[in-house]
Amino acid sequence: MSPPDSQTQSADSAFEELRAAAESCTSCGLCEQRTQVVFGSGDPHADLMFIGEGPGAEEDRTGLPFVGRSGKLLDRLMGEEMGLTRDSVYIANVVKCRPPANRDPRPEEIAACRPHLERQLELIDPKVVVTLGNFSSKLLMDTRIGITKLRGRAYAWSGRALVPTLHPAAVLRGGGDAMAMVRADLVRAQMIVNRSTGDPSETEPAVVDLTELSELADVAGANR
Ligand code: URA
Repeated sequence: MSPPDSQTQSADSAFEELRAAAESCTSCGLCEQRTQVVFGSGDPHADLMFIGEGPGAEEDRTGLPFVGRSGKLLDRLMGEEMGLTRDSVYIANVVKCRPPANRDPRPEEIAACRPHLERQLELIDPKVVVTLGNFSSKLLMDTRIGITKLRGRAYAWSGRALVPTLHPAAVLRGGGDAMAMVRADLVRAQMIVNRSTGDPSETEPAVVDLTELSELADVAGANR
């Protein structure tokens, strides 16, 4: 294996600086009750990044994202549909500290944490982002349209593709249909990664423009 070039080395040290900054962050009230900051885990050079909502109890205890029941399901589906392990992708959350009693993160908490997520995206520079659930999908796509309407397509977003899908916790609650939807979305994401990394045999699924969201917004009940 050839040694990393100087550009890779400086990106790696920028990533470690970001981790250190996030791990000592006191920009919002969530720092008061956290056990650990859950910065993210996986390959910081990955082509694929998953973004969830925020750490739960197990994540707060271990300092790692998606290690509870939802995470075990995510690992399984990633393996079955994409042939990937969590070490070969990057997994992070919108907020890096656990909201008490697993409540939704508040707007001021999201705003305080957003620079960490944006810098993570900039440094990892994934080809495809999979948002897990209503919360991260609506936030990153800047829409009030709900995940059941958003999912099922890939969107052009910030120079990459964004594939919104259901949160694994919703699959645990929702059973077969929800599971089939997530499986299909993961296959879609992997096809886009394959294509963008040069596999010419891959038929890329359509990546639609975010402006098409306004069509979805016209659909009654779209915000679920
Ligand atoms: N749910 C999330 O959104 N993120 C985690 O890390 C765990 C559960």
